[in-house]
Amino acid sequence: MITPEERARDKLLRKRKEALQGGGEEKIHSQHEKGKLTARERIEVLLDTESFEEIGAFVTHRSREFGLEKQRIPGDGVVTGRGTIDGRPVLVFSQDFTVFGGSLSEMHAQKIVRLQELALDNGIPLIGLNDSGGARIQEGVLSLAGYADIFYRNVLSSGIVPQLSVILGPCAGGAVYSPAITDFILMTEGTSYMFVTGPNVVKTVTHEEVTFEDLGGARVHAEKSGVAHLTAPSDVDTLLLTRRLFSYLPLNWKDKPPRRPCPISTSANVPQLKYVVPENPAQHYDVRDVIRALVDPLSFLEIQPEYAANIVIGFARLGGYVVGIVANQPLVLAGVLDIAASQKAARFVRFCDAFNIPLIVLEDVPGFLPGTHQEWGGIIKEGAKLLYAFSEATVPRLTVILRKAYGGAYDVMNSRHIGADYVFAWPTAEIAVMGPQGAAEIIFKREIAAAPDPAAALAEKTAEYRRIFANPYRAADRGFVDAVILPEETRRILFAALDSLQNKQRSRPPRKHGNIPL
Ligand code: HXC
Repeated sequence: MITPEERARDKLLRKRKEALQGGGEEKIHSQHEKGKLTARERIEVLLDTESFEEIGAFVTHRSREFGLEKQRIPGDGVVTGRGTIDGRPVLVFSQDFTVFGGSLSEMHAQKIVRLQELALDNGIPLIGLNDSGGARIQEGVLSLAGYADIFYRNVLSSGIVPQLSVILGPCAGGAVYSPAITDFILMTEGTSYMFVTGPNVVKTVTHEEVTFEDLGGARVHAEKSGVAHLTAPSDVDTLLLTRRLFSYLPLNWKDKPPRRPCPISTSANVPQLKYVVPENPAQHYDVRDVIRALVDPLSFLEIQPEYAANIVIGFARLGGYVVGIVANQPLVLAGVLDIAASQKAARFVRFCDAFNIPLIVLEDVPGFLPGTHQEWGGIIKEGAKLLYAFSEATVPRLTVILRKAYGGAYDVMNSRHIGADYVFAWPTAEIAVMGPQGAAEIIFKREIAAAPDPAAALAEKTAEYRRIFANPYRAADRGFVDAVILPEETRRILFAALDSLQNKQRSRPPRKHGNIPL
C-alpha cells in the first residue's frame, strides 16, 4: 500500500527525471552527432563537480497557438541555476537546443532574468551558455519582450558583476546583443556562429553568397570582427577556458580579484629579460616573451590574440596578484596604434578598471598609424577612446617603457600625465615627439638640403637628435619617468610597486557619467 507521502515523492522524482531529458533521446543524439554537448553536460564541465543547484526546472511556456499547448517541456529550453567554479559562486544559464531549438520564449526569458536579478542583488557573476535558434517564432512579440528584458539587465549589470557569454551553437538576429553587452564572449570553433542577419538575408540584400561559418563563425569573430575574445576547438575546451578566465575575475565591483600563492620569487632578478629587446631599434621582437618572463609562470592568458595583434592584452598574475596587461607588439605593424588596437585595448582597460584589476602597460610604440584608411575610419575618436579609458581608470597603473614612446602615443599609453602611478623606463627607451630620422628631416630640412652630401648630413643630424632625445633621461630629468631600471630588475620592481598600491584610493569628481567618444 503506497502512502500519500510516497506518492508525492514518486511524483517529484518522476518530474525531475522528465526535466532531465530535455527534448528527448533522439534530439540529444542529434546534438551529440553535431559534436556538441547537451545543456546539462556543459554545466557539468563548467562548474565544480556536483555543485550545480537548479532553479526553475519545472517552468513551462504559456503558449496556446500553433499546437504548442500540446508540447510543454519542463524547463522550457533553458537550464538555470547556481554553482561554483574553484569554490567561488556563479550563476549560470544553459540553453537547451533539444527543446524547441533552444529558442527564447517569454518564460525562457523570465528564467534568465531571474538569474540576472540574483546576480545583481548578491554580487555574483553570471555565465550564459548560448545555443539557440533565437526568438521563439510562435510567441511573437512576447519573445522580443523577453530579449529586451534580458538586454536591459545586461546593461544594468555592466560594471557591477562580470558577465561572460559562451557561444556553443547558433546565436543569431537580435539575440547577439545580449552577449555583445557582456564582458567576454567565448566561442567554439566549427559549431557556433553569431550574426545579425543570416546567409539567406545577406544574399537577398547584398547578393553575397556566404556560409554560416564565413559569415559569423568563431574564426571570423576572433580574427576579423573582434567580437569573440577567446575561442577553442570543442565545447569542453571552451568551457575549461571559461573556468580559466573566471579565475582572474572578482565576484563583483566591490570585490578584489582572487590572489593565488606565487610559486617563484618576487625579489629575484630575471636574467632572460636582458636579451629580449634587440639593440637595433628597427628590429622586431615578440613582446609576449617579455610578458611571460615578467609574470608568474604559466599565468598569462591572452585575450583576443588574433585580433589587432599589434597590441597584446590579457590577464596574468604577478606575485599572485591578478593584473591586466596591455602591451604594444613590435612584431606586428611595429606595434603601431591603429583603430582596432585602440578599441581593443580601451575596452580591456575599462573592464580592468571596473573590476579592480591593476594595469601593467609595456610600451614600445612608434606612434599612430598614418593613412586615409585610418583617418576616414575615425582614428581621431577611436584613439581617443584609449586615452579616455586610461585617464579615467583609478586602479593601480604601472608603465614600463621598453623602447619607443613616440608622439601622442607616448601620452596615451598610460603616461604619468594621464594618471599612471609609476612609470619606469629601460635604458633602451626612446621618448620623443617622433623617431630621430623623421625629426631630423623636419627640423634640419634647410641645413640638410644645403649640405654638400645631404645623406651624410641627414645621418649626422639624426644621430644628434637620437643622442639628445632618443633616451629615457630627458623624461627622467623632469620626473615623467620615475626610475630608469635594468630589464632584469623589472619583475621585482613592478611587484614592489604593485604591492605598495594595494590600498590605492583615487576619487573622481561626481557626475552622472562621462561621455567617452563612442
Ligand atoms: C521556434 C525553433 C526556432 C525558433 C529552431 N526551432 N529555431 N522553434 N522558434 N526560433 C526548432 C525547429 O523548428 C526544430 O524543431 C528544432 O528547433 C531544431 O531546429 P532545426 O532547424 O531542425 O535545427 P538545425 O537544422 O540545426 O538549424 C538550426 C537553425 C534553424 C539554423 C537555428 O533552426 C533556424 O534557422 N531557426 C530559425 C532561426 C530564426 O530565424 N530565428 C529567429 C531569428 S530573429 P523540431 O520540432 O522540428 O525539431 C530573432 C530576433 C531576436 O531571434 C530579436 C531580439 C531583439
